[in-house]
Amino acid sequence: MTWVHRNYTKGFDGISRAEMLSAGLKQVSERFFTGEEFDLTSSAYAGFTVKEVSRGSSAEDVIINFKATIPSPYRIEKLKGSKRMGSLSYAFMAEQYLGGDIRASDPASIILIFTPDDETWIAGFLTEKEDSLVEKFKGITERTCVSMTLQAALAMVHLAPNEPIVDPCCGTGLLPLASLLLKKETYAADNNYKMLRMARINRDNLNLDIEMPHKNALSPWIEDCCLVSDFPAERSWMSNTVDISMKLFKTWIPHIKSFCVIFPNRVLDDLPDNLNITQKVEFTADRTIVIGTVHQPA
Ligand SMILES: C[S@@+](CC[C@H](N)C(=O)[O-])C[C@H]1O[C@@H](n2cnc3c(N)ncnc32)[C@H](O)[C@@H]1O
Repeated sequence: MTWVHRNYTKGFDGISRAEMLSAGLKQVSERFFTGEEFDLTSSAYAGFTVKEVSRGSSAEDVIINFKATIPSPYRIEKLKGSKRMGSLSYAFMAEQYLGGDIRASDPASIILIFTPDDETWIAGFLTEKEDSLVEKFKGITERTCVSMTLQAALAMVHLAPNEPIVDPCCGTGLLPLASLLLKKETYAADNNYKMLRMARINRDNLNLDIEMPHKNALSPWIEDCCLVSDFPAERSWMSNTVDISMKLFKTWIPHIKSFCVIFPNRVLDDLPDNLNITQKVEFTADRTIVIGTVHQPA
């Protein structure tokens, strides 16, 4: 069994949990999820994984029962809150029961001992998150939107139904670029040249290949995709104008197969009926990510 440790910041609880569940994991505690297989490198919110070797009712139990060949030298760590640290007392126990060469620096393997639910103790081999897509994504330089993080963009693509992805309001390009990093067929545009200039710089920094043309999202320009978008807010905060996000969404419905889009909570009651909504995920700034498919007339 694999244990996945979730690493998220305030406001991103909903989307990080949804990402873990969409990968087929089961939640065991606030931080820990379990499953058989997990792709750590492409995950937005997973911090590290542990391949379970033993379980028991105490740290000593799991060390005594640790029946596996341990690549040496190895390090023993424990988890306190969400922080990992070396443990001298567990290292002494491991030396006594397991032998091998224990060393704090440059180990060939790390054994983590933890209790995900404050009852069961687990020991297993820890895998660090290395060469991850989140790290690669940090190569972008142009950003305007503070509430859409790189992780949130990757997680939204993980949550999106499995059609090619289109973001007709791509701004600086976080969503389509996340989609390309995840090797999905992707289309993007925006109606603002300044945004497109930034999006293209980000694209080039990541060495990705996508056209980012100037187009008005109020005239849909592609069929049968999954709409993944962080819509623009309404034009005026002072007036009661029609919310542009719902207007854009309704314009695209006849042209898409599925969607994973962000709405302000106050417009959710206006969602049309001809939708099969599979998930609503709480997001930052009083917004919700709405995911589902469209029933197109035959
Ligand atoms: C909330 S921002 C998207 C931010 C984006 N996720 C990012 O990574 O920067 C909304 C975007 O919608 C664009 N937009 C507004 N009205 C549009 C329209 N009618 N057609 C296309 N894009 C539009 C804006 O230029 C802006 O870039």
